Amino acid sequence: MSTNRMRFTDRVAIITGAGRGIGEAAARQMHAEGGTVVIADINNERGEATAKDIGGSCCSVRTDIADPESVAALHNTVEQRFGKLDIVINNASLVPYQKWEDITFDDWRKILRVDLDGVFLMCKSSSDMMRKNNYGRIVNISSNTVLLGTPNLVHYVAAKAGVYAFTRALATELGQYSITVNNICPGITDTDANWETPHHEAFDLVEGMQAIKGRAKPQYHVPSILFLASEESFWVTGSTVVTDAGHTRH
Ligand SMILES: NC(=O)c1ccc[n+]([C@@H]2O[C@H](COP(=O)([O-])OP(=O)(O)OC[C@H]3O[C@@H](n4cnc5c(N)ncnc54)[C@H](O)[C@@H]3O)[C@@H](O)[C@H]2O)c1
Repeated sequence: MSTNRMRFTDRVAIITGAGRGIGEAAARQMHAEGGTVVIADINNERGEATAKDIGGSCCSVRTDIADPESVAALHNTVEQRFGKLDIVINNASLVPYQKWEDITFDDWRKILRVDLDGVFLMCKSSSDMMRKNNYGRIVNISSNTVLLGTPNLVHYVAAKAGVYAFTRALATELGQYSITVNNICPGITDTDANWETPHHEAFDLVEGMQAIKGRAKPQYHVPSILFLASEESFWVTGSTVVTDAGHTRH
């Protein structure tokens, strides 16, 4: 999506899981609008390749969002290299496909650890940096599955519902520092995550239920994500934007 605006000049952003998919699309557009983007992906090869392809000030720091030491190291690196943090987009997650009957407690913990604990750890360290400047934009990527109760995703839906509610509560805590905290709920999207599991088999079924027909590409979510990451959204916090072509009509 082209735009001639430069909304992110002098802004420093971390985007987790931006080595590919929706995070990568957000990183490309934010960089195109002048932002300094730090890709924080556990897949270092992919993160480095994407950062190199974007070019300019874009860089990659290997990060496991579920590991407190890794999250602390990421924030130390950003502090040392750029001296501040304005924006965090909590996009990284694991997208499983498992029947309820097959899910063990270990499976549950594996998903909750990354998809919910990881968002807590990132928000904690990022807001500590943002509070110093009395400015911040936190955009958490949840999912429209929290509204739908989509099958084969019980642990993921629980984690994403946690992110959805946590976003509202954290907005209450951080408003006094002019830090906004908002939430995007994408619908099913044409990304590797869905081709690596049987989730892609639902593409046609879901398209039939959408108010606007078509199959979502990663970049379709970017205008909403970047609005919430920009200064323009200063009066919006604790809010949710559902980017699913009216599948849920939330
Ligand atoms: N694709 C969809 O249909 C869809 C629908 C609704 C919501 N979402 C959400 O949108 C976001 C992006 O989805 P996507 O399809 O682009 O995902 P994706 O699987 O294509 O990319 C996720 C990225 O996160 C990284 N990652 C995984 N675990 C990590 C960890 N512990 N630390 C750091 N990085 C880690 C992966 O290496 C990968 O690069 C996710 O939060 C997902 O839950 C996606």
